[in-house]
Amino acid sequence: MKLETTLMGLSLKNPFVIGANPWTGKISKLKELEAAGASAIVLPSLFEEKIHLEKFQYHESMHAFDDLHAEMVTQHPDTEYAGAEIYLHFLKQAKTALNIPVFASLNALTLDAWIHYAKKIEEAGADGLELNLYHTAKDPKRSSQDIEQEQLQIVQQLHSEIKIPISVKLSPFYTNTLHFIQRLEKIGVDGYVLFNRFFEEEIDTDREVLTFPLRFSHGTEYTHAMKTIGLLYGSVKGNLVAASGLHTSESIIQVLLAGASAVQLVSLVHKKSPKALETLIEEVSQWMDRKGYGSLEAFRGKLSKQNLRDPYAFEREQYIDLLLKGKIL
Ligand SMILES: Cc1cc2nc3c(=O)[nH]c(=O)nc-3n(C[C@H](O)[C@H](O)[C@H](O)COP(=O)(O)O)c2cc1C
Repeated sequence: MKLETTLMGLSLKNPFVIGANPWTGKISKLKELEAAGASAIVLPSLFEEKIHLEKFQYHESMHAFDDLHAEMVTQHPDTEYAGAEIYLHFLKQAKTALNIPVFASLNALTLDAWIHYAKKIEEAGADGLELNLYHTAKDPKRSSQDIEQEQLQIVQQLHSEIKIPISVKLSPFYTNTLHFIQRLEKIGVDGYVLFNRFFEEEIDTDREVLTFPLRFSHGTEYTHAMKTIGLLYGSVKGNLVAASGLHTSESIIQVLLAGASAVQLVSLVHKKSPKALETLIEEVSQWMDRKGYGSLEAFRGKLSKQNLRDPYAFEREQYIDLLLKGKIL
């Protein structure tokens, strides 16, 4: 009871959500994650490129998608789903197999496709839809304003066409994430997942070729999300969900203190096992007991900008802070 949280209008038994990854595309793993205490799961993204690839697999027009596919495979190499029908069928299976909420995740190419697949996902019974808005800058002619405007139009349109709650999973690379989120707020987005984490190219120096290794996150990568959540808490209605680099109860408590309603975990459960979740839940619960907190509400956002007396909280640049406090090594 004391770990209960509300996410996008849904009541969750705790804030531990499993983010999109290949394991949430397997019923056996989903059951293990639910048994270990996960309060909700996000299915792997349905990528429009994959749908096209399957459709045109033996067709010449497949070449039109070469670039897009390369990018998608680079970002999420192990995503399993090929066709939309398979995805929707799996979503229904997951809903039947689990007692916890099941969120779908979508990344499409055109506005029509976003709407088309979002509607199908809603019909198939998803409890909510995470919009995987990933974009990697590769065209110098497109301004950030153009890209953001296009993304806002997609979210706006989806919000008016579907009724299930919508969250937006953002890239960490906006010039001003806070401004973009304020614009999403005006649309009425229910949740913000901060942040997505991309796989990026490396170079094999022996073979002198580009490689795309699958690297899980490190346990230090949560601080950008924590800071952004700390700055946003209290100024947005949508729930703030921390993602990326959450590997310990210590970091999870930090993002809750900054104002997160929930966390999404992926690398940790892969590196260890679904059972690692049990330990984390226990540790957060023990910390709450030690501190005398009977609910998450009792301390959520306690160290957000809104609740801190320091006017420079989360704003002072780290170098200045170190200099002022004479902490330079
Ligand atoms: C193998 C793998 C596949 C992933 N596939 C997706 C995906 O389909 N859609 C998505 O939005 N994120 C995907 N992600 C990103 C994760 O959901 C998560 O945001 C990221 O791994 C950061 O969390 P972590 O530090 O706990 O791993 C994937 C991550 C991994 C490791």
